[in-house]
Amino acid sequence: MKLFSSVNDVSNIHQIVSEAISQKQNPFADEQLGKHKTLGLIFLNPSLRTRLSTQKAALNLGMQVMVMNLDKEGWALETQDGVIMNGTTVEHIREAAGVMGEYCDVIGFRSFPGLVNREEDYSEEIFNKFVKFCGVPVLSLESAIRHPLQSLADLVTIEELKKTEKPKVVLTWAPHVKPLPQAVANSFAEWMNKADYDFVITHPEGYDLAPEFVGNAFVTNNQDEALAGADFVYVKNWSSYNDYGKILTDGEGWMMTNEKLKLTNNAGVMHCLPVRRGLELSHEILDGPNSLVLNQANNRVWAAQAVLKSILESLT
Ligand code: CP
Repeated sequence: MKLFSSVNDVSNIHQIVSEAISQKQNPFADEQLGKHKTLGLIFLNPSLRTRLSTQKAALNLGMQVMVMNLDKEGWALETQDGVIMNGTTVEHIREAAGVMGEYCDVIGFRSFPGLVNREEDYSEEIFNKFVKFCGVPVLSLESAIRHPLQSLADLVTIEELKKTEKPKVVLTWAPHVKPLPQAVANSFAEWMNKADYDFVITHPEGYDLAPEFVGNAFVTNNQDEALAGADFVYVKNWSSYNDYGKILTDGEGWMMTNEKLKLTNNAGVMHCLPVRRGLELSHEILDGPNSLVLNQANNRVWAAQAVLKSILESLT
């Protein structure tokens, strides 16, 4: 694999889930594979899990890792083409990405959406430019509209814990005080559709995801209806796609609680983290037996390790 930016870059999702579980069972089996190979992890936005789990995965594979918070530690980056750089930006992404490609065999790159211009965000302009100009294999550490490493870890978590072949998986919108990207929800939906589960999305009116991500999911604005009999409930806030980047409601009544859990099939409750306690998810769920948030965080390592292994195998 030379590029990991979405589920579409994976030829067989069952195979990559098996690889992640295999890496989990034997983390150092491929510790020679990454010898003398350098991974650069480049962040334009903050991170805890993605940064540490991908770093750990690379170290398990014998790679050396360099991390740079480009937004804070680098020169102010220009991403538009053809501009006269007589303002505040200092370095163009063409040179910056090219230079990083000189130092790294593989690069992980994170860049969030602006949530102002939908066409610009959904064209993945910054991510695609970085891929083009760095000239080495790239894995997404979350882009404007997708978070594939998170989704792979989520799929691994469900596959490990499911009790039926085709579990009912519900993605439910949750309240938040800030407008958040649709990336985690988009990506989760994309991977769940590919996994062919009984997949349901529920959100208040006005929060429909882009049709290409909804796919074959059943969509309802009635959260109770969605939760009925669920085996897994994935809780996540996102801002509006249609009224782009806006918060349309305070979401009163949408927080997942133990009372709502009674509607489900004793569902495992998932969240990618970071989570706002008492706003997106209740304390009682996060501190209770149904929470899978640490399982997901743990699986971030094995998801990254499976992806990095596939990329390393493709290097000549
Ligand atoms: N879930 C996730 O991507 O966490 P970070 O933003 O902390 O990396």
